[in-house]
Amino acid sequence: MTTLQQAEAAEHALSQELDRIVVKSTIYTSGERDPRLPVPRPPDDGRLYMMGHDPRLPRMPDKPTLFDYFTYRLGPTQHPLQSARLALKNGVGEKVVLACLLHDIAVAGFIRGDHGYWGAQLVEPYVDEEVSWGIRHHQALRFYADESVGYQYPESYVKLFGADYKPEPYIERAYKYARDHKWYMTSRLITVNDLYSFDPTVKVELEEFTDIIGRHFRQPEEGLGFDASPSAHMWRTIMWPTRYL
Ligand SMILES: [Fe+2]
Ligand SMILES: [Fe+2]
Repeated sequence: MTTLQQAEAAEHALSQELDRIVVKSTIYTSGERDPRLPVPRPPDDGRLYMMGHDPRLPRMPDKPTLFDYFTYRLGPTQHPLQSARLALKNGVGEKVVLACLLHDIAVAGFIRGDHGYWGAQLVEPYVDEEVSWGIRHHQALRFYADESVGYQYPESYVKLFGADYKPEPYIERAYKYARDHKWYMTSRLITVNDLYSFDPTVKVELEEFTDIIGRHFRQPEEGLGFDASPSAHMWRTIMWPTRYL
């Protein structure tokens, strides 16, 4: 869907009252409101509750692929796309390129906090174990320098989290564990190719990675979300984020 089509779809959806009631999940509002309190509900006007496709979102194909999620649910995607292109340019293996492409999938479409863990879990059934391992552990490694590959603690983190931010003990433990692991460099290379300030004038298309995705991502025949894998429900939540149950 082009930007214009997206804008038109959004406008169309806005112009018509939602005919289903949407109750936001606790995680969307916790903090802005006390999660222990009952959720405010609209008056009972006979409307039904949302149980599927939300008309405010672009509709996804019946058997969605990874490409479809990139197109209809993730954004902005230039950061991971540029990271993957940089990785390719740096001559790393295809598995690392795929890991770079998917490393922030949770941030782009699901949940920010602990995004390395969520992202790894999401893609785990469909990629080589080394790829999901790398994605999982970039969460901790990004906070620690490795001079041997020229990775420094990101300056942007000083700005974002303050000069005195110190990763919690559980992150430090995860870092130490990853540092001694045989796949350490896979995860480390994600952080090395993780562009913190990317060039807004460069536009990378997902199609550049069609072959690599084809070779290293096992697209389920039933579509992501309907294949009964251990993370199928997570894909469905991304597809239908406002379902009541
Ligand atoms: Fe990340
Ligand atoms: Fe990143």
